[in-house]
Amino acid sequence: MSTETIAVDALTIEDAAAELARLAKEIARNDELYHGEDRPAISDADYDALKRRNDAIEARFPELIREDSPSRRVGSAPSVTFAPVVHARPMLSLDNTFSQEDVQDFVASVYRFLGRLPDQSIAFTAEPKIDGLSMSIRYENGRMVSAATRGDGTTGENVTANIRTIKEIPQTLPAGAPSIVEVRGEVYMAKSDFLALNKQMEAEGKQTYVNPRNTASGSLRQLDPKITASRKLKFFAYAWGDMSDMPSDTQFGMVEVFKSWGFPVNPLMKRLNSVADILAHYDEIGLKRPDLDYDIDGVVYKVDSLELQARLGFRSRSPRWATAHKFPAEQAFTTVENIDIQVGRTGALTPVARLTPITVGGVVVTNATLHNADYIEGIGNSGERIREAGHDIRVGDTVIVQRAGDVIPQVLDVVLEKRPTEATRYEFPQKCPVCGSHAVREKNEKTGKLDSVTRCTGGFICRAQATEHLKHFVSRNAFDIEGLGSKQVDFFFESDDPALQIRTAPDIFTLEKRQANSLTKLENIEGFGKVSVGKLYAAINERRNIALHRFIYALGIRHVGETTAKLLARSYGTYADFEVAMKAAAPLSDDAWNDLNVIEGIGEIMARAIVEFYKEPRNVEVISRLLAELNDGTPLPAEQVVASNSPVAGKTVVFTGSLEKFTRDEAKARAESLGAKVAGSVSKKTDIVVAGPGAGSKLDKARELGVQTMDEDEWLALISG
Ligand code: IVH
Repeated sequence: MSTETIAVDALTIEDAAAELARLAKEIARNDELYHGEDRPAISDADYDALKRRNDAIEARFPELIREDSPSRRVGSAPSVTFAPVVHARPMLSLDNTFSQEDVQDFVASVYRFLGRLPDQSIAFTAEPKIDGLSMSIRYENGRMVSAATRGDGTTGENVTANIRTIKEIPQTLPAGAPSIVEVRGEVYMAKSDFLALNKQMEAEGKQTYVNPRNTASGSLRQLDPKITASRKLKFFAYAWGDMSDMPSDTQFGMVEVFKSWGFPVNPLMKRLNSVADILAHYDEIGLKRPDLDYDIDGVVYKVDSLELQARLGFRSRSPRWATAHKFPAEQAFTTVENIDIQVGRTGALTPVARLTPITVGGVVVTNATLHNADYIEGIGNSGERIREAGHDIRVGDTVIVQRAGDVIPQVLDVVLEKRPTEATRYEFPQKCPVCGSHAVREKNEKTGKLDSVTRCTGGFICRAQATEHLKHFVSRNAFDIEGLGSKQVDFFFESDDPALQIRTAPDIFTLEKRQANSLTKLENIEGFGKVSVGKLYAAINERRNIALHRFIYALGIRHVGETTAKLLARSYGTYADFEVAMKAAAPLSDDAWNDLNVIEGIGEIMARAIVEFYKEPRNVEVISRLLAELNDGTPLPAEQVVASNSPVAGKTVVFTGSLEKFTRDEAKARAESLGAKVAGSVSKKTDIVVAGPGAGSKLDKARELGVQTMDEDEWLALISG
């Protein structure tokens, strides 16, 4: 008998497992038909019944909840969602270098940071940078227990079932391996397998894939591991996360250990001792590149000694001990069919070239950014010429397009010989193409030069600015409201119905209530069904709890990206404190202004932009309506991400004078890794001033303010005690 007809109460555990598997598949299939293909096969009521049955079985047998359970999926996006995994150690990215000089600078910076002389040679490893997806695979007591994608570096997705289908990756480690091992590396698809797959797709009359990397990514994000298995993914091990014990003390040695455990490692990795040798190896790998059966986009250099790696430590997102030397970007010729203007969230008018479609390095390119009016003319950000005179970009021109990695394609140059006689200079608009307000280039107060960006002065009345602002607000790293995509935002914004309209962020949170009292029901509007409306409300309500840094980022303050938002959240702790301080900082002079400026990573331009934002009464008014919609009327206070057992966690430290045991950079990095904030100047908020010989005014100020002072040895004793 099929499990489908058995009442939930009567299911045996085996039946329940089979039934959950069936429901997961059935619901996923209907999700795909509904959202992905817009052709639902069952009624909303029947769909809801499937979901309820799934929930009821899970409530009875929580131990059977599947990784691909429909209850784990939120929102109405067609995307497949995997359970989140918080990485035991963050998965960082790499800094990029593009030239021999950059590489020399990188090596020099390593020597400088460590205070080493050029004759105290430091060894580096050099290996290909694989163009795939990074993966962290965890083994406990020799057995694979989980595998996770990189995600945002802190939290990835659990794709264990799919990784288990990759034959090259061992399921178990040999006896003697540490009890906890996290092997990290790159999952990729071989070029030959990619071509064969596309041939097969073509033969079956199906859409072909764009490139091996996207195909590998798509193959991993399958709920059915059988599909992943059929895609022949491969792996190179090159790094590690959590380890209960270190089997080697060098980068090279660790990779050799991985090899001995059965992991594939890249055969082109070498250990080298000088910049000249490193660059020679880069050239060699570059020459081999076309013949390799996998895509690579550069060469990664890493300090070989793990002890030195530890001393060098990390910047916010990347290690100081490694860099990626990228290969030059790929280029192609095509023509400019048109130039359109896009109006962004901050009113910036960005010209975009519409191109005759062309493949650049295996990817079809149809648009390229033209940045701003000067760029079209051939003038760079500092007023320098970036193309020869006469090489301004015109509609009809044949141009060289460049694409590097995931960066937006660029138009590099114009082929003048091919310029049609009728082609005329592009006239940059002086009015916003969306709202008709004047578009102006502001003058930089400091330099007296014109800003490169032309901005719409329409502010809130500009439809483009308002909708882009909302789109930013709901975007993934801000409020992350699933089901409110670009199309939906436009729809709600344009609506004249008070029960549907969303013009500002707080309106999102009042939608459900307004709908309840209204006759025009969202669920009857094309594109929304009952199920998706329910999901939308659920997604919105879930965000009434929101992390402080997401909230600050979502405000869309100019120059305040995610990293800055995190810094601000961490420094001010609560939203109330942040807002009070920003308003107090308005005269750009007193303590509040000073405190904002001494936060490492906040420059004056950002600081001004934040203060300006809070000077606008309308911003403050919208925020207060928004706060009223949140649980407890506030975002969640920032988590204190500090090493809890460190005596300097959360303290603000200033280093001054010359240090003898560390370079200044190393001292600062070490303090930050212990959870301290390192500031450049002394204020009332400073907790400790570490003064070396020759300390002057900062030490005086510390004494004047009664701030604790110490010398380098006392500091060392404090942090190692
Ligand atoms: S090392 C802490 N080595 O590049 C640094 N990364 O841009 C850990 N990648 O997220 C990374 N090949 O996905 C390293 N040989 C290699 C690599 C490599 C490719 C990827 C990796 C990383 C990204 C950073």
